[in-house]
Amino acid sequence: MDGNGRWATRKGLPRIAGHREGVKSLKCIVRLCADLGIRYVTAYAFSSENWKRPVSEVSGLMKLFYETLASELEDLNKNGVKIILLGDRGNIPEKVLKRFQEAEEITENNKKVILNIAFNYGARQEIINSVKKICSLLNEGSIKADEINEKIFSDFLYTKDLPDPDLLIRTSGEYRISNFLLWQTAYSEFYFTRTLWPDFRENEFFKAISEYQKRNRRFGKI
Ligand code: FPP
Repeated sequence: MDGNGRWATRKGLPRIAGHREGVKSLKCIVRLCADLGIRYVTAYAFSSENWKRPVSEVSGLMKLFYETLASELEDLNKNGVKIILLGDRGNIPEKVLKRFQEAEEITENNKKVILNIAFNYGARQEIINSVKKICSLLNEGSIKADEINEKIFSDFLYTKDLPDPDLLIRTSGEYRISNFLLWQTAYSEFYFTRTLWPDFRENEFFKAISEYQKRNRRFGKI
């Protein structure tokens, strides 16, 4: 969801106004996914590197997550959206983590759209965590080295039980993956657009889907 800051700056507004507008885009996209039968959506909301932003922006964002999770919960739940937090739960401010956990519990049995929120997320750390857990299994003798396979590795990622993404969309004209789902996007289709996230609404989403429909996915075959 890139480009919130630039969107606001171009309009002479504080950066947080861009993040607020970005929440509206996320709502719009989740609604469209429900309509189109897209069952899994993952939004990169806050990376493990985003803590390095100015304190005022980080605290503004935390407040926004805290408020949005509360204000949208009833609506999301009513519309069958299940919320899952993907990320390191270790150093998330307690108040915000509680809101995420509450949202996860309340929406636990929903099935229409699974909305994964990547928050305090970093793919390299996720991979290292998986390696560490597999090493403990090796040390205690529960598995042998040659039994390690993709399934076991994936089972220790935050995305356990979730399918790999078919389509990855990055907004705002940046052409990089920024430590997002490095393992899971091995065969995903990538779609880049110069549109800033707050402007990424129905038409832009349909363009992305339509582009995806033209792709020929071979998964290494011919
Ligand atoms: C990147 O734009 C965006 C973020 C770091 C925050 C995105 C978060 C939301 C839209 C809130 C979602 C809310 C919930 C509850 C999931 P940027 O700041 O990097 O923009 P820039 O590149 O223009 O500076």
